[in-house]
Amino acid sequence: MKGKLKNIITSVKDKSRVRGYTHRFYTYPAGFSPVFVESAINNLTKKKDLVLDPFMGGGTTIIEALKLDRKVVGIDLNPISAFVTKVKTTKLSKKNIDSIEKWAYEMSEKISFKLENNKFIEDAYSILNWKGLGKREITNLKKVIKGAAFYLINLKEVKNKKEHDFLRLLLLRCLHSTLHDKRPIHEFTVFKSKIRSNSLDMLEGMKSFDPYLYNSRNKVNIYNKCASKTHKTKELKNKKVKLIVTSPPYPGINITYSRWHIHGRRNTTLPYLILGLPMPKHKSIFNFQSPRNKTYDIYFDTLERTFSSIRKISSKKTIVLQLLAFNSEKGLFKKYLQTMEKCGFKEMKMKASGRVWRKVPNRSWQATFVKGDISASNEVLLMHKAI
Ligand SMILES: C[S@@+](CC[C@H](N)C(=O)[O-])C[C@H]1O[C@@H](n2cnc3c(N)ncnc32)[C@H](O)[C@@H]1O
Repeated sequence: MKGKLKNIITSVKDKSRVRGYTHRFYTYPAGFSPVFVESAINNLTKKKDLVLDPFMGGGTTIIEALKLDRKVVGIDLNPISAFVTKVKTTKLSKKNIDSIEKWAYEMSEKISFKLENNKFIEDAYSILNWKGLGKREITNLKKVIKGAAFYLINLKEVKNKKEHDFLRLLLLRCLHSTLHDKRPIHEFTVFKSKIRSNSLDMLEGMKSFDPYLYNSRNKVNIYNKCASKTHKTKELKNKKVKLIVTSPPYPGINITYSRWHIHGRRNTTLPYLILGLPMPKHKSIFNFQSPRNKTYDIYFDTLERTFSSIRKISSKKTIVLQLLAFNSEKGLFKKYLQTMEKCGFKEMKMKASGRVWRKVPNRSWQATFVKGDISASNEVLLMHKAI
C-alpha cells in the first residue's frame, strides 16, 4: 500500500494542463488533473472494479476509469456536467465522424450573423449584461450571438442524436473560448474560424479515445442528480464501489460552475440557453451555499446529506479520495473532517509527516507537506475509509 500511495502523491504534483483524449472538449471549472485520477484508479483498483465520482464536473474521473477498463458511475447536479460528460464518452461510428466533420466544415464556411431576431437571440440578449460595454464590444457580442443562432437553426436538421449533441457541444466550446473571460470580446471572424479547428481537434480526441469505448454502454452510467441521492443509484446497489475519486464544492470558495464571465465580471447563464438545458434556480446551488451566508451551516448540512448517502453504498473496502480547497477561515478544515467522520468515514493519512497540499492561486500542482491547520487558499488531498 505504501508504494501505491507514494505513486498517487507523486501524481498529485503533476503540473501539466488537462489534455488528451476527450478531456478538453469543454473546460469545466475546477477540473482536476487526469494524471492524478489515473494514478488513483490504477493504484487502488483492479480491472472491472467499480469507481464513483459523485461530483463529476467535466467527467475527468469517468474518462480515466473507462481508459483503465473499470466500471464507473458519475453524478452531478449541474446538467451541463452530465451533458458534457455524456458527449465525451459516447462512442461514434465512422459514419457519425464523417457526418460531423462535413457538417462542421460547411457551417464554418457559411455561418453568418445576418439574420432577423428570433427567440434564441432575444433570450440571449435578455440574459447578457450590456451595461458599460463600448460600441465595438456590443457589435461583436451581437454578431457572435446571431452566429450562434444561425448555427442552432441549421443544427435542427441533424436528426442523429449523437451527432446533434456532439455538434451542440462544439458550439458551446467555440462560444466559450470566444466569450468567456475574453477582454476585449473577440470578433465574429474569430468565432467562425474556431468551428473548423475545434471540430477537428474534438474528432481527433474522439478517435484516440475510441479503443477504450468498446462495450462502454455496460461500463458507464451518468446521472444528473443531487449526490444526496447516490444511494438510490441502481448500479451502486448491485455492486460495491471500490474507489470514490472526487472534488466536492469547496467550503467558503465560490466557483461559477454555471456561468460565463463576459467582458470581465459580467456573469451569464448563456451556456444553458445554448444547450437547451434548464437554468439553475439559485445562483449558488452548485457551491452548496451562497458565499454571502455568514455561517457555513447549509454547506455542512448538504455535505453531511451527500456523504451519508455515499456511506450507504460503501463497504469497509471502499476508499474515498478527495481533492479540496479551503479558504483561510479558521475551523473549516476541522469541521470538514468532523463531518466526514459523522457520516461514517475515517481519515487515512497519506503520509506520516502530514497531509498533501498544493497551492491554489495559479492552479499549479504544488504538493507540500503541512502539519496542523492551514493558513491560506490551498488544496488538500484527503483519503478516507468507511468505518
Ligand atoms: C470541483 S467540481 C468537480 C470537478 C471535477 N473533478 C472535474 O475534474 O471536472 C464540483 C462539482 O460538484 C457539483 N455539485 C455541486 N453540488 C452538487 C450536489 N449537491 N450533488 C452533485 N453534484 C454537485 C458541481 O456542479 C460541480 O460540477
